[in-house]
Amino acid sequence: MKDFITIILAAGEGTRMNSDVPKVLHEICGRPMIDYVIDSVANARLKKICVVLNKEHTAVLDYINARKNKYIKAVFQKKPQGTADAVMSANKFLSKAKANVLILCADTPLIKTQTLQQLVNHHKDRNASCTMLTSFLDNPSGFGRIVRDEYSKVRCIIEEMDASFSQKQIREINSGIYCFNSVDLLQALNEVGLNAKKKEYYLTDVIEILYKNNKRIETCVSSNPEEALGINSRLELSHANEIMRMRIIEEFLKNGVSVLDPKTTFINYGVSIGKETAIYPFTVIQSGVKIGSKCSIGPFCHLREGTVIKDNSVVGNFTEIVRSQLGEGTYFKHLGYLGDTSVGKGVNIGAGMTIANFDGKNKNRTVIGDKAFIGCDTVIVAPAKIGKSAVTGAGAVITKGSNIKNNSVVVGVPAKPLVKAVVKVIKKSKAKKTKKKK
Ligand code: UD1
Ligand code: CA
Repeated sequence: MKDFITIILAAGEGTRMNSDVPKVLHEICGRPMIDYVIDSVANARLKKICVVLNKEHTAVLDYINARKNKYIKAVFQKKPQGTADAVMSANKFLSKAKANVLILCADTPLIKTQTLQQLVNHHKDRNASCTMLTSFLDNPSGFGRIVRDEYSKVRCIIEEMDASFSQKQIREINSGIYCFNSVDLLQALNEVGLNAKKKEYYLTDVIEILYKNNKRIETCVSSNPEEALGINSRLELSHANEIMRMRIIEEFLKNGVSVLDPKTTFINYGVSIGKETAIYPFTVIQSGVKIGSKCSIGPFCHLREGTVIKDNSVVGNFTEIVRSQLGEGTYFKHLGYLGDTSVGKGVNIGAGMTIANFDGKNKNRTVIGDKAFIGCDTVIVAPAKIGKSAVTGAGAVITKGSNIKNNSVVVGVPAKPLVKAVVKVIKKSKAKKTKKKK
């Protein structure tokens, strides 16, 4: 879409979030909301993107720069004085636009690529001056309402704060996503006055200016109103989280993963799970986790960043894994913590195993070889290495720096090779007997 540029508005104060974190960096399923918006735009093959940022929000600029996308430009709005003023901050970018501009808000993360494409095509096909994405909501409060004239043509957008009682009954809302002819937009923006109540310049006032100038204003009605959900408060953030969570789970279900109880399963954005794997209730899976096929995960399991689980493995109840890899056919079935550990293939980890990976200063790594058998309640103080086919006895404590040889058996606290341990026990009991004789 060479004749389109995109402006994403992200400079608002986000006061209603009541947060020190800029609103657009608040996460939905483990990912900042602005990322979803940028991706939806980029996936619609709309390459040239300008994001309008607030000077105080340096974290947002860092975040945008970290994406290393040469097509995304950031500009600053001097002072957040409303959405029209925000668009004006991208004036230089806008005046370079050949024909059309798509404008959307970074706080509308549920918008889908397909819907943006429909909007853009609608705008181009009708050669409109403005095309707005609207929705019909049962509860439209908080949104700008679409006011139509006696011929059903869009006359203006009225914000909730400025709406009369009868205007508040209008169910058609402004999603804050529009396409404009860039020349018409620039002209109209120059005419926008300060809103008396909010002391802001409203982008929505452009619509009435275009109407008065007999410009063509179109609406494209979204068939899926949830896509228009704008996030202004933490309550709306939690609604968006819920919708995104279900979208993610539905995608896995389609791809042959069983999620037994979607209501109690939390899978973040950016997780991969192979076919025929079953995810049991009360499981939390963070971004970046990779799970193979034919695995069984949960119930009550927490898989954190850096977890990789290969095919045919079982991770059962009350387990937590972080920055660790499990080889094929490994079992970690009940109660335990696995941190900073590489576990080989065919390993059996008994109930209650704990890796003491943090020594108060550093996180240390543990390696557990193929086919090792870790007895119940073993504690491994990292760094440590457990050899292939090695066995640890129930309750063994593997001390820091241990290197347990392949095929060996260690038991006790601190863990010692079984042979030595048995000899020690025999010696002890002999010593007791001789004492008694004396
Ligand atoms: C806006 C629309 C409203 C629409 C709703 C959809 C206006 C006046 N109102 O209201 O009609 O129904 O979105 O979600 O446009 N921003 C800036 N600079 C500013 C102010 C805001 O960049 O000075 C950005 C914000 O970061 C946000 C977006 O613009 O991403 C929308 O601002 P917000 O204050 O959330 O507007 P709404 O009250 O939701
Ligand atoms: Ca908003």
